Amino acid sequence: MRHVSACLLLLCLMLVSGAAQTPAYRPAWHFSPQKNWTNDPNGLVYFQGEHHLFFQYNPFGDQWGHMSWGHAVSRDLVHWQELPLALAEENGVMIFTGSVVVDRTNSSGFCKPAPCLVAIYTGHESTRETQHLAYSNDRGRTWTKFPGNPVLDRQRKDFRDPHVLWHAPSRQWIMTLAVPDQHKVEFYASPDLRRWQQVGEFGNAGSRAGIWECPSLNVIGDRWLLTVGINPGHVAGGSGTQYFIGKFNGQQFENANPAGQVLWLDHGSDNYCTIPFHGTPRVNMLGWMSNWQYANKLPTSPWRGQMTLAREVDLIETPAGWRVRQTPILPRLQAPLLRGEALSKRLQTLDPEQPFILDLEIEAGDAQEFGLLIRGLQLSYDARNQQLVLDRNQQLPKSPEFRKRMTALLRLDKGRLRMRLVVDRISLEVFAEGTEPVALTALFFPDPDAKSMRWTGNVASVQGRVQQKR
Ligand code: FRU
Repeated sequence: MRHVSACLLLLCLMLVSGAAQTPAYRPAWHFSPQKNWTNDPNGLVYFQGEHHLFFQYNPFGDQWGHMSWGHAVSRDLVHWQELPLALAEENGVMIFTGSVVVDRTNSSGFCKPAPCLVAIYTGHESTRETQHLAYSNDRGRTWTKFPGNPVLDRQRKDFRDPHVLWHAPSRQWIMTLAVPDQHKVEFYASPDLRRWQQVGEFGNAGSRAGIWECPSLNVIGDRWLLTVGINPGHVAGGSGTQYFIGKFNGQQFENANPAGQVLWLDHGSDNYCTIPFHGTPRVNMLGWMSNWQYANKLPTSPWRGQMTLAREVDLIETPAGWRVRQTPILPRLQAPLLRGEALSKRLQTLDPEQPFILDLEIEAGDAQEFGLLIRGLQLSYDARNQQLVLDRNQQLPKSPEFRKRMTALLRLDKGRLRMRLVVDRISLEVFAEGTEPVALTALFFPDPDAKSMRWTGNVASVQGRVQQKR
């Protein structure tokens, strides 16, 4: 009898808490919170052997609201350990997106002793957005909000998502902020993270089809990469990230490409508010693997939202100009090289429910179309239109925003194409390279009956390595 009532109680709890749980959808190589809602990654920073991922988080439910900063740490950027909430909403001020820096010289006066971590984030109220500080002297475990907050208030309703870096040539902190409805970013400078003065701005370029959010600025070699989230208006619909490559002199960003040119960091529909880790020797970036078009409807439970893989970013010169190339950070592939038929057979024997990494080198020959079928999801290369195509039309959920065909211009390099695919339980990340690199990231929710994984099309030659998660 007691057993029956315990079962009934569990059933009631499940009904009250909404959807049934979906453990089969739990990502294995990507961060997702144990429960509740997440959107943008925040405050990515490497400090004393740990990568910190803070993230927009609702501690009370699986829809957007009560925005606070969740927290997770990782040594290898693949396995994450979730920690208690870092920064909580307080007195109606939500904690929006921002960054964390390592203050090595105690320029802020918050370190006891240096180095310490300082968070710079947007405090969101219904009529005003202002910039705030918090600091931690125990490796990010606990945080103190600065009593002098806000440190920057321009009396604006929309003014958010500070990204801060140390600009060595001018020996000052630089903060890049989005003015969403004016489709521009502004640059502010400070000696101590507390006093900020505007030094420049950048706009009137790239795509201005939607609001601008979540900017980031970074130096890579002798060039600067400025990324900006846009919503809506992304090439795959809804939200996504565009980028600019140029020079930054401590005040102004000079775009090396024509102002009208639009460059997308990712051609898939699920990579938003991508920002870099502070404090790493190479630039590693990570984004929210979702899209504002349907984020609230994704059929996962008890969590909703996850991050992309971290990717090392470099800038390369291609026949079309300077471009971003992304290399996913993953355990090293140790699988043998397989060719043609052997590779094809291996694909068919993969366990469809377990994640895998696939590296491919393809010589297209006369093939007009070739690719892979992954549990009902068709990824293909259309040689006639020189396009990489991902068709999500047969996928769940059935909302029209989710069902879409994503494309990216991709020219073969002397008839050849290289691709790395990372397939987790509900996501696909494609890193392809012809004459230019292309990234395409998309969620997908396979029908449990769709088990088949196979190579499609007849190419001159294909070889590759495939490794499945054990
Ligand atoms: C982007 C965004 C940010 C904001 C945050 C709020 O996804 O709208 O501009 O800081 O989400 O959760």
